[in-house]
Amino acid sequence: MSSIEHALVPGTFDPITFGHIDVVRRASRLFPRVTVAVAESLGKNGVGTVFTLDERVEMASRALSDIDNVSVLPFTGLLVDFAREQHAGAVVKGLRAMTDFEYELQQAELNYRLDAELESIYVMSSPQYGYLSSSVVRQIASFGGDVSDFVPACVVGALRDRFR
Ligand code: PNS
Repeated sequence: MSSIEHALVPGTFDPITFGHIDVVRRASRLFPRVTVAVAESLGKNGVGTVFTLDERVEMASRALSDIDNVSVLPFTGLLVDFAREQHAGAVVKGLRAMTDFEYELQQAELNYRLDAELESIYVMSSPQYGYLSSSVVRQIASFGGDVSDFVPACVVGALRDRFR
């Protein structure tokens, strides 16, 4: 069996946070090549995203430009199909609290049923980001709060423009 050369870090990234960046950085040390796969996520929970797919890809690309072996691509449809198309053998995600576990276990099991060759690998969030999520960032920004401890400067600006 050959080792895995290419891994995906998938998500909606609406917007990318320091927590995501931490996960991508750690994935980039585990695999020679990492692609951050930004899902279109139309109608997630019946609600659209705050940022368009292009905007989310652009912000993630800027935020991750200093990591050599990482690229950012959009995808639509099933993650397993995108992984096959990209010849990626693993998916890396971050786990925060137990509350993430059930959701992530369901996704890992579904993806396993769809493609047993695709490995699902989880890294524990660094403690300083355990509380952080895109949804809390959106909420704070929507009320005019300071999110500069949670997201890169380019995202702070984009949130300010969006909720002005
Ligand atoms: O950041 P998120 O919103 O938790 O990421 C979830 C994501 C985008 C990784 C997940 O919804 C996904 O893989 N979507 C693509 C559609 C798919 O493959 N669904 C079946 C597996 S759950």
